[in-house]
Amino acid sequence: MEQSGAYLELRNISKSFRDGRGNRVEAVHDLSLQVQRGEFVTIIGPSGCGKTTTLRMVSGIEDPDSGEILLEGKRLTGVSPQERNMPMVFQSYALFPHMPVFDNIAYGLRMRGMSSDAIAHDVALASQMVDLVGVEHRYPGELSGGQQQRVALARALVLKPRIILFDEPLSNLDPRLRTQTRRAIRRVQELLGITIIYVTHDQSEALSLSDNIVIMDHGKIAQSGSPETVYNSPASPFVSDFIGNANFFDGEVSKTGAKTLEVHAAGHTFSVPIERCDSGLEAGSAVRLAVKPELVSISREKSPFAVTVDVASFVGPITEYKLQFEVDSSDSPRIITAIESNVEGFTTVYHAGEQVYMHLKDDQIRAYRA
Ligand SMILES: Nc1ncnc2c1ncn2[C@@H]1O[C@H](COP(=O)(O)OP(=O)(O)OP(=O)(O)O)[C@@H](O)[C@H]1O
Ligand SMILES: [Mg+2]
Repeated sequence: MEQSGAYLELRNISKSFRDGRGNRVEAVHDLSLQVQRGEFVTIIGPSGCGKTTTLRMVSGIEDPDSGEILLEGKRLTGVSPQERNMPMVFQSYALFPHMPVFDNIAYGLRMRGMSSDAIAHDVALASQMVDLVGVEHRYPGELSGGQQQRVALARALVLKPRIILFDEPLSNLDPRLRTQTRRAIRRVQELLGITIIYVTHDQSEALSLSDNIVIMDHGKIAQSGSPETVYNSPASPFVSDFIGNANFFDGEVSKTGAKTLEVHAAGHTFSVPIERCDSGLEAGSAVRLAVKPELVSISREKSPFAVTVDVASFVGPITEYKLQFEVDSSDSPRIITAIESNVEGFTTVYHAGEQVYMHLKDDQIRAYRA
C-alpha cells in the first residue's frame, strides 16, 4: 500500500444514512484528509455538512461505507473504538451525574483494571492539567459549565489517547469561559503533543486554535490549509463567506489583460489582479466578486458607491456598519457589511440614516467563477 507518511489518514471515505422515510442521505462523500502527529486540525462547516459523522468514523463508532482510515499506515477497519483509543469529547459533557469528579475522570482507567495507586496518580495529573484541583470530590451538578467541560477533557486525557476528537465542545459556554477553556485545550495539547481533531461552528475558534483548518460543505472538503491561507486566499465564495463573512457582487468579465481582469459589477468596472481571479475566466464569463468587511471602508469622500448607513454597531476596537447600497434606482437596496477599526483620534463614527460613500480597492477584491 502506498505510504503517505501522515499519522492519521482518511482515504476516500463515504458514508450514507437512510432517513425515517427510507431516503438516502449522503453525510460524507469521498473525503480524504491527512493529519500529522501532534497537529491540531479543525473541521468547520455548516450544520449537516458531515462533521460529526467524520469524527464518529475516526473514533470507530461508525464504519465508512467505502474508503479507509489508516493510523501510521495501518488500516483501522475492524478495530474497535476501545482499541483505537481516540475518545470523543462533546458539547453535552456526558458526565456520570452520580459520580464525583474523581470517579468520572477515573472511570476509563478502572475499566482498564489499573491499580488504585496508579489511578490516583494519573487522575491527579489530569486534574492538574485542566485546573480542577480542589473540586475532585464534587458532583457534576455542583460544577459550572466550564468546569464540567474540563472534567470531560480530563476524562479523555487520562486515557493517554493517541488522538482526541472534539465535537463542538465549547458551544454551551459563555464567550469568556469559551476563550479560557480553548486556551486550556491548546495548552494541554502542546504540552502532551496530542493530535487533535476539533469540530466547531465558530470561525474565530477555528482560526485561533488550529494548525490546519478543514472547511466542509455537503460532505466534502471545500478547502483545507493553515488559518492564514484559508482566510487570506479562500478558494471559493463559500469559503470566503464562511471564514471571512465576505460581501459579494455578481458581474461579468468585460476585458482580460496580462495583469488584471476587468470586471463589470455593482455599476462599476473593477480591475482585479489576475492572481486574485479564478483561472480560465474570459470576456463574458459570469463572476462573483468577494470583498471582506474589513476591506470595505466608508467616508464622506465621494466614490462611485453611495450608501446609507443602516446600522452602526460600535463594539470598542471596531465599528461594524450595515450599509444599504443600490446599484441603480430600479434595484432594491442590498446590505453590505463594513468593519472600521477604531484607532483613537482617527475614526469618524457614522450613524444610522447618514449618507456616506463606500470605498473598495481593486487589489483587495477576489473574483470567482459564478
Ligand atoms: N444516524 C443518522 N441517520 C440518518 N441521517 C443521519 C444520521 N446521522 C447523520 N445524518 C445526516 O447526515 C448529515 C450529516 O450529519 P452530521 O451529524 O455529520 O452533520 P454535522 O456537520 O455534524 O452537523 P451539526 O453542525 O448540525 O452538528 C445530515 O444530513 C444528517 O441529518
Ligand atoms: Mg455535529
